[in-house]
Amino acid sequence: MVTDRLENEIVGEYLLTARSLAEYRAMFALTDAELSGHILDCPGGAASFACEAVEFGARTVAVDPVYAQPAGELRETALADTDRGNAWSAAHTGDYLWDFYDGDPAVHRQMRHRAVRRFVADLVACPQRYVEAGLPSLPFPDKEFDLVLSSHLLFTYADRLKPDFHLAALLELARVSAGEVRVYPLVEHSGAELTDLVEWLRAELDGKGIRSELRPTAFYEFQRGARDMLVLG
Ligand SMILES: C[S@@+](CC[C@H](N)C(=O)[O-])C[C@H]1O[C@@H](n2cnc3c(N)ncnc32)[C@H](O)[C@@H]1O
Repeated sequence: MVTDRLENEIVGEYLLTARSLAEYRAMFALTDAELSGHILDCPGGAASFACEAVEFGARTVAVDPVYAQPAGELRETALADTDRGNAWSAAHTGDYLWDFYDGDPAVHRQMRHRAVRRFVADLVACPQRYVEAGLPSLPFPDKEFDLVLSSHLLFTYADRLKPDFHLAALLELARVSAGEVRVYPLVEHSGAELTDLVEWLRAELDGKGIRSELRPTAFYEFQRGARDMLVLG
């Protein structure tokens, strides 16, 4: 079956996705004022956030292990993964809320393709903005960033990333942040809720003196039920 094939393809690896600034703003409830500081996006993937936020006055850095690959390869992978992810969502349309994308999977695909193009152009023009590294170890000093964003790695891939990895990654993101760390979504790629994992992590962080809260997105909910982000600091 087509859907079984898609599921196997998606579950077998990390998708190289390409969310836009508009999606980051909605997922993380970002204000204009928050787009003015030094911001880390980890994982950056093929998102155009780091590139687009600069136009608002932010100084951005994106981190991802895939930045070891040449721009041309990343472009091809990101476009193919965008189409796979889009086909998956469209084939399981009931698991998603399409309002943000005007109710139309084609709008979602178009937005992500535009983000890939912007990402690749910026990667070529400003390679220093894109750092090849990976959680749970980041090549930055303590409190380097005013704001740290992490979208669609932690929790999304909880089927293969263990709780201890999540904790180490969150501690590392908190280490390099002088302000907040915002993580979204808090459900798995399958849509499964992860309440036990979220509560365990919050208790562990609390024990290490790191406060956390669950905060709603700015009306963004694509995966059904993914209405909250985890905020540290
Ligand atoms: C689904 S994409 C999310 C990209 C982007 N944040 C977005 O929302 O479009 C997941 C990304 O996590 C990256 N990744 C995998 N392992 C990682 C690690 N240990 N540290 C940082 N990023 C990692 C993958 O290379 C991939 O680009």
